Amino acid sequence: MCGIVGNINKSLVKNNLIEGLKKLEYRGYDSVGIALVNNNKAIDILKSEGKIDDFLSKYKDNKSDGQIGIGHTRWATHGIPSDNNAHPIFDYYKTLAVVHNGIIENYLEIKTYLQSKGYEFVTDTDTECIANLISSYIKDGYSITKAIDFTIEKITGHAAVLILSEDHPSTIYGFKKGFAGSLLIGKSDEQIAIASDFQTLISNSKEYMVLEDGERVVATKDGILISNGKSNVRKKWLPINEDEEIVSKNNYQFFMEKEIHEQSDVFLKNFQGRVDFNKKTVNFANEFNNLDLATIKRIHLIGMGSSYYACMLASYWLEKISKIPVQCSNSSEFRYRNPVIENNTLIVPVSQSGETADTLSASNLARELKVDQICITNTTNSELERITKNSIMMRASSEIGVASTKTFMATIEIFFIIALYLSQINHVNEDLSDIFDELKIIPSYIDNILKNSDKIIKLSNKYSSNNNFLFLGRGQNYPIAMEGALKLKELSYVHAEGYPAGEMKHGPISLIDSNMPVINIVTDGPYLNKMISNIREIQSRKGKIIVLTNCPEKLDSSWYDDIITFDKTDDILSPFLSTVCVQLFAMYLAISRNLDIDRPRNLAKSVTVE
Ligand code: G6P
Repeated sequence: MCGIVGNINKSLVKNNLIEGLKKLEYRGYDSVGIALVNNNKAIDILKSEGKIDDFLSKYKDNKSDGQIGIGHTRWATHGIPSDNNAHPIFDYYKTLAVVHNGIIENYLEIKTYLQSKGYEFVTDTDTECIANLISSYIKDGYSITKAIDFTIEKITGHAAVLILSEDHPSTIYGFKKGFAGSLLIGKSDEQIAIASDFQTLISNSKEYMVLEDGERVVATKDGILISNGKSNVRKKWLPINEDEEIVSKNNYQFFMEKEIHEQSDVFLKNFQGRVDFNKKTVNFANEFNNLDLATIKRIHLIGMGSSYYACMLASYWLEKISKIPVQCSNSSEFRYRNPVIENNTLIVPVSQSGETADTLSASNLARELKVDQICITNTTNSELERITKNSIMMRASSEIGVASTKTFMATIEIFFIIALYLSQINHVNEDLSDIFDELKIIPSYIDNILKNSDKIIKLSNKYSSNNNFLFLGRGQNYPIAMEGALKLKELSYVHAEGYPAGEMKHGPISLIDSNMPVINIVTDGPYLNKMISNIREIQSRKGKIIVLTNCPEKLDSSWYDDIITFDKTDDILSPFLSTVCVQLFAMYLAISRNLDIDRPRNLAKSVTVE
């Protein structure tokens, strides 16, 4: 959830640290700070509550700088966002500064132990335990590296940490325990750089290496020493072949707006090399190359947030098209319920960031159980890829808006293509040629919705003062009802619930009155009449009815208050289009409430704590 940077340089590092933190701000943005070793070999800490712009205005006249430093952008776990709780955090003697991503689960026990030894704590963070624990081992006479190794052993939970020490002013120490986001180390002729993600590193490095679970790093301008606590670990520098992606808003007001509008392009990119529309075949051989799919008898999909809803939708498609039984779990539930996994199961973890702690832990469990896995991710060199060994890339390019949009679309498209692929290799005897023909046109249907978004803007304005919404759908549009409600919650801070429409009469119906707008996804297909009955039931209870539909001709205009239409397709493909409608509705409603679209309150794009 937090972003970490470190820099050892021939020139001054403050600007490099800040530039790195700007790139990592998607990981958390409630406070920010840096620590530098100044000319007098003392540590200066500059930190402030708020976003990087707040930090920059607070310190606009500050001249501190140095050739070595660490930095942090925070998503609070322990302790409210404040100047005091912002990282870096000093130890009691103010000779060590620590930045930390993750959660120390036994921090209270450690704090009590250290307090009994006379250590006073001045923040509410669990991070202060790390600083003071290292410090206490040093006071006991151990070297700093031994002190760090003891600390790694003593703490439980997940942590990615960098440390500056006044006694070793030319060195950055660091360690990684469990899954608290990546720590990547890069180098060029001028510098050693450390960052939580690859995109941040490649702006100033030519080669890189990855710190793994249980490893400690000692970085100086002369080189890198990695140890696993018992012995030194020899690692090769890997070349960085990618160029830094330049990400801008173009002419859009918000990144999310741009990202929603990129979806038809993303859709086309994900076809390339995978779908042959002339032959009506799918080729995934290169991506599934380490797996024998013909032996797969069952599929288990795991993810969190929008990725989980993408899995839910995929479970409908995979079963219908490829006839393989599919189960789908929220990663955080999967992890702790001692899952029973039958032989010949394929697990597919989904995570656009490749860093979500719950999904990493779940996937790691699957690795321990020796189950075949292939992940779907948007992040090259992500931790998830390293665990699963096999991956399918989303080809969505960087998504900056914290709430997922184009990566959700890319994920569901990939799942749809996988369903076609499995049907093909398992010789499922169904003619899918019409589906191929329609799938090809989806990008232009997405563009049609975007071109006509005025209607959705008007509706969002109309409903912008409502504080409760219900989203209903059936079949493959039930997960889209869930995703629509999630988008609205994330962006507008409005209470919204998604339900399978059949469930409505088992509880949610009691919420319906003239103040409750209900967004119904009504598509032309096997669920049409059932959805019409639901609408009629809502109307009888004076609920406000908004229909998202591809068959207005089959609905009497007296049955609804408002309507959003999209192109008609085979019903199985309709989620691609209903998705765009719910995304636009949520975004424009948040815009009319004047909210931060790209960085909604309390959220983070990479959730690296469980
Ligand atoms: C956060 C984001 C969501 C995202 C979820 C899962 O909560 O705000 O938009 O769906 O994490 O992220 P992942 O990277 O695993 O897909």
